[in-house]
Formats: sequence, structure tokens, C-alpha cells
Amino acid sequence: MPAAAHVDFSTLETPVALLDERRLERNIHHMQTAVNALGVRLRPHVKTAKCLPVAARQREAGGHGIAVSTLKEAEAFFAAGYDDILYAVGIVPGKLDHVRALRERGCALKVIVDSADGAHAVVEAGRAAGHAFEVLIEVDVDGERAGVAPDDPALIGIGRLLHEGGAVLGGVMTHGGGSYHRFGHDARVAFAEQERSRCVQAAQHLRDAGLPCPVVSTGSTPTALSAHDAAGVTEMRAGVYVFNDLVMAGLGVCRVDDVALSVLTTVIGHQADKGWVLVDAGWMALSRDRGTQDHPIDQGYGLVCTEDGTALDDWTVSAVNQEHGIVTRRDNATSADVRERFPLGSRLRVLPIHACATAAQFSEYRVLTNDGRLETWPRFGGW
Ligand SMILES: Cc1ncc(COP(=O)(O)O)c(C=O)c1O
Repeated sequence: MPAAAHVDFSTLETPVALLDERRLERNIHHMQTAVNALGVRLRPHVKTAKCLPVAARQREAGGHGIAVSTLKEAEAFFAAGYDDILYAVGIVPGKLDHVRALRERGCALKVIVDSADGAHAVVEAGRAAGHAFEVLIEVDVDGERAGVAPDDPALIGIGRLLHEGGAVLGGVMTHGGGSYHRFGHDARVAFAEQERSRCVQAAQHLRDAGLPCPVVSTGSTPTALSAHDAAGVTEMRAGVYVFNDLVMAGLGVCRVDDVALSVLTTVIGHQADKGWVLVDAGWMALSRDRGTQDHPIDQGYGLVCTEDGTALDDWTVSAVNQEHGIVTRRDNATSADVRERFPLGSRLRVLPIHACATAAQFSEYRVLTNDGRLETWPRFGGW
């Protein structure tokens, strides 16, 4: 959907992270409705946007608590009034003082572990400080990243260590990252069920061993939007759905028209004999993510749109340097008219391959508001 025609970008110095508020709100509503229909809570993962006005919209839509990927996010969101926070990256001893400091200031910050070593570290730090940390055990449902397998006897050992060592055993959580390789509706539905059933199985093993497991937290954007059943799950976490991106579109999780984030860029030159258009968005603006490389449609470093946001399906950013992007036709055909079609100084937009990575290149979003204005929303990065 093109942006309101009267928005004037001419004063913006490119590259710029442009956010379409209408699409953003549509994406938030779509996810919240899907998770509500499953009868569980949605805990938005705020690592995608790292932006307070975006999180406020997720909360207003019905989100309960947030998940973060850094303690810096936890600090920033706690300062803004969010006090139910899951730090969804495995905790290490060196971060526990920081976690405790946040908890002692009133933040119900929860951490995750997936090993006896991690559990020991939490218990030891808790004992030393006379503090009860709240901990979820991370479960591995697909062999893709971290976690303890649901049928691994180590699971019960970790649970006992925490529970008997004075920590609050909050439950289990998993992230079915394998969903990013499941193409098509049926494969996604089956994978969502794999994520659910394995995480619920882990919770059941803990309960059978006499351990508490109140929270069963699953989630990724593809699984949250594909699950048919959430029996045994208490909450789902999802992040990238706020912006969506070409990986999600390539998987069939959203349409290209649902991608709310784009990079506004300016044509800075041509190599007309090769059919190249050079733009001022290189990897520093777009990121180096090549997440559609193994998709049926490879979108390179991003899909090119006109300045008003209409996708030019034949044109992608096919190569990047730090501050240069090379825009070419997808079929590599040389178009003798690139200078006329994309004049020097003209503007294009590039849709991101992986919105979290592209957004991370910027310190603010320029937002095309629902009423046709441009606003600036700050975002934060770093650790
Ligand atoms: C632990 C955890 N939970 C939830 C998510 C959200 O997944 P998505 O961005 O697909 O919604 C992520 C994403 O990386 C994650 O690492």
C-alpha cells in the first residue's frame, strides 16, 4: 500500500529507516488477534524495534509483559514502566548482579538457564546475596540452538537445583527457531505443534517430578501465527511480526505489503552499461543479512520499491559495500534506460531481508503516521 502521497521526503538526508504506522498497527493487531484466539497471552519480544512508541502499541493491543534480548533493553523498558520482563537469552554469572539490581528496584525480571552450570550460578549468586532469582528453563524443541531436550534427564536435575537451591522455578520456555526454515502453511502448522508439544512435555516432566512449572512460554512469529492448538501453553512470545520482513514474506508468514519498515535511499550514480543503479544504502544501512539466500525467491540485500512504497518486483539490491548498494534487475538483464528510470538524486525504498538486523543500523525511525505526517521515534541499540 503506497504511503500518503503528500508526505514530503525531500528534506530527509538518506539513508533513513522509514516506518509505516498503518502497517505497524495492522501487524500488531493481526498477531494479537491470532494469539488471543488461541487463549494464551502474548508477550511481545521488543528486540525487533527497541522503541518505546512501538512497545506502547503492542501493550495497548493487549500484550502482557515483554521479552528482551539485552539487559540494556530491560533497563530502558523498566524505566518506561514495564516491570514484567523476561530476559530471553541464557544468563551467565557476570550478568547476575545487574539482574539482581533491576529486581531489587522492583522489576520482575526473569532469566533463563539450560544447564546445571547455569542453575548453579544462579543459586550461588542468590545465596551470596540473599536473593531469590526467578528462572525459566530453556527447552530445545528442534535442535537449532540452545535448550535442554524435553526427555533429557538433565531437565529434572536443573529444576531440582533451582527449586531446592532457593530460586523461584518459574517454568519452561522455548523458541522454535526451526520455524524459519519451514516453507508453506502445512509445514508451519506441523512445526508449531512440535514446538508446543515438546515444551508442554518438558513442563509435564517437571511437574511429575514434583516441581513447580506455572509458565509454559513458546514462540516465534511463524509458529504463533500458525499454531492451531495451544493446549498447555500459557504465553507466546513473538517479535519480528511488528515490522515483518522479506524472510517472513518468503516463508508465507506475511505478504510483502505487510512489511512496515523500509530504508529510504537516494540514487547516487549508475553503471548504465551493466544496468546498475548505485544507491546510498549499503550494508551499514541494510545490514549484511542474506536470510532469503535459500528461499525459492532470493531477495538479495533487499527488495526495491518506488519512493511511495510500491514494490518493483524485478529490482533488488544485489550487492553492498559499506555505504553503497548496487541495485540490479533480478534477471541481471541490462536496462539501457537506468539513468532515465532512476535519475541521480531520485529516491527509492528498500524492504529489509531481516527487519531486526536492518533496524539495528539506525538510532531512530522516521514514521509515516496514519494521518500523513512524519514523526521521529527514537530506538536504542548496544548492550
Ligand atoms: C528467545 C526468543 N523468543 C522469541 C523470539 C521471537 O521470534 P520472532 O522474531 O520470530 O517473533 C526470539 C527471536 O529471535 C527469541 O530469540
